[in-house]
Parts: sequence; structure tokens; C-alpha cells
Amino acid sequence: MTKTALITGVAGQDGSYLAELLLPKGYTVDGLVRGSSSYNLGRISHLNHDVHDEDARFFLHHGDVADGSRLITLLSRVAPDEVYNLAATSHISLSFAEPELTGMTSGSSATRLLEAIRMVGLPTRYYQASTSAMFGAAAAPQDETTPLQPVSPYGAAKAYAYWMTRSYREAYGLYAVNGIAFNHESPRRDESFVTRKIAMGAAAIAAGRQDFLYLGNLDAERDWGYAKEYVEGMWAMLQADEPDDFVLATGTPYTVRDFLDFCFSAVGLDWEKHVKFNDRYLRPAEVDALVGDASKAARELAWRAHVTTPDLARLMTEAEVAALAGPV
Ligand code: GDD
Repeated sequence: MTKTALITGVAGQDGSYLAELLLPKGYTVDGLVRGSSSYNLGRISHLNHDVHDEDARFFLHHGDVADGSRLITLLSRVAPDEVYNLAATSHISLSFAEPELTGMTSGSSATRLLEAIRMVGLPTRYYQASTSAMFGAAAAPQDETTPLQPVSPYGAAKAYAYWMTRSYREAYGLYAVNGIAFNHESPRRDESFVTRKIAMGAAAIAAGRQDFLYLGNLDAERDWGYAKEYVEGMWAMLQADEPDDFVLATGTPYTVRDFLDFCFSAVGLDWEKHVKFNDRYLRPAEVDALVGDASKAARELAWRAHVTTPDLARLMTEAEVAALAGPV
């Protein structure tokens, strides 16, 4: 039987990889994109969403997760078997500048969707894109039992969404799960996140297009995996017999400094000669170490991250070098 999935944030990094995963499985995919006069559909433009093509199984809908009535209309119309709530204001620095908006998009969007599913009365399975940012100040390594201690408006908003997801599961018996994803990156990552910024900087410096890269805290430890693998974990969570919450992570910590080393080595450069500190990239509060223990996902979903952080850094840098070289 063909399934239908609704993905919020379908034009983002994870949304685009998830649509690519689901379409070959036979899914019809409905994606929510923010209404705007200029669309940023670069990551999904290769997927057939031609409304005139009878074979197309990928449909885009305008809407915003801040608009509850729109979500109810859309859910009634699409009647999805699965909803993946990936839309968010996901940049942590930006969440300090726009704390209230972050609450609406990254926090209460979950409540709007869960309430819409309940109101419409669909047997829909719901995936909430929860995040390691919810752990904040909690000591690493973190797993599903680690208490949440968010230190940013983004982390706090996501913690609210996490608890609402659990609450709807417990109160109403909804099949609703939290995937607690640690940092996951790719060549499709927005340019302002540190991994893509470093990969782009290394490639541009190697090509002689710039001399320096400006960064903030290089001591932060993260657990960086490949986003393409993480969407497989998201899908697996919605196929399980019982709804539950899972950490997705590589389990191996590296510092921003290490990531610099991996990317600059990939283009034969010494990063120390090209990186300068700039305090504009510091945050009002920092998360020192996020390192996930994903053994529950390995045990119960047979999900594992195979791409290591050094491999990921190389893959991202090579993609930037190729992009600068242009089409062959
Ligand atoms: N973005 C950025 N830009 N970060 C920098 C810079 C810089 O110039 N210099 C140093 N950093 C440090 C940040 O201070 C942080 O400690 C680390 O690099 C990673 O920053 P980001 O790539 O912005 O990721 P994040 O860990 O803050 O948040 C990401 O991961 C979360 C999961 O843990 C985002 O993807 C969140 O949406 C996600 O939930």
C-alpha cells in the first residue's frame, strides 16, 4: 500500500534528504514550504514536483508552521500516514536574536501539528525533530535518559516541543516520537553553520579566492554525522511497533579545531595560517560538549552512523572544491 508523508521544512537539508529517501520507497511526499515571493528550493529542485505531470508523487504546499489553521486544512486534505516536523529556526545564534519567533517556529509548531492531528482524527504517525541542543549544559555523553538543560532560546523551544510530543503520546495514545539528533551536516548545510562555513572557507582559500576565515569558539566539542544517514533513522523510528524516543549520533567527539584540521588538510593547507578569531561569532551562552550515545537506536532500530566526522569533513570540502571548479 502506498503511504503518504507530510514533511515540514522539506526545502531544508534534512527535508530534502528525507524526500529523496521516501520517494523511491513508493511514498507520496507532500512538503510544506514557507510562502514567499522568492522560493529557496535549490535542494529539492531535482525532485519531480511538476504539478502537470500525472506521475509526480512529490507535492509542495505553501504554508508556515506558525499558522495553525493552515496546518489543519492541509492535514485534512493530505491525510498523511506520517508527519515529519523538520521546520525550525535552527540557527542557535539567530535564536538569541529572535527568541520569541524561535518559540513559535521551533517550539509551539509541534503543539499545532499534534493538536491538528488529534482534531482531524487521523491515525497519523508523528516525528518530532528534537535535538541535542536540548541537553545544553548536561555532561557528555548524553542519551535518552539525560536530563534536558537547554541554554539557548532554540534549545528551550525544542525542549518544549519534545515534552509536548511525549505528552500527546501519553495523554492521547498518538504514535508520536522524538528523534534526538546530534549535529548532522552535509554539503546541503546552510552556510552559516560552522562545518559548512569551514568547508567553504578551506576550498575558497585553496582556490586563492580569500585569505582568511573568521570564527568564534574553537574549543566546542560536537558529534558531527552525515545528514543523509540521519534521515534513515527518522524513517526507522516511524516504522517501529511502538512509539519511542531515540538519540541519533556518531558517538565520537571532535572540536571545531579538529574540524578545521580535517577540512584544511583535505586541500593541503595549514588552518592556523588562515583562521582568525572574531568575537561576533561568540554566543551569549555556549554549549561546550555534545556527544551522543546512540546505542538504543543501534539495538532497537538497527541504525548506526557509518560516516565518521573526518570522512564528513573531507566529503564536504571536496564538494566545495568541485562547486568552485564549476561544471565539467
Ligand atoms: N555557526 C558558527 N559560526 N559556529 C561557530 C563559529 C562560527 O563562525 N565559530 C565557532 N563556532 C562554534 C559554535 O560556537 C558552536 O560551539 C559550534 O561551533 C557549532 O556551531 P553550529 O555549527 O552553529 O552548530 P550548533 O551546535 O550550535 O547547532 C547545531 O546543532 C544542533 C544539534 O546539536 C544546529 O544544527 C542546531 O539546529 C542543532 O539542533
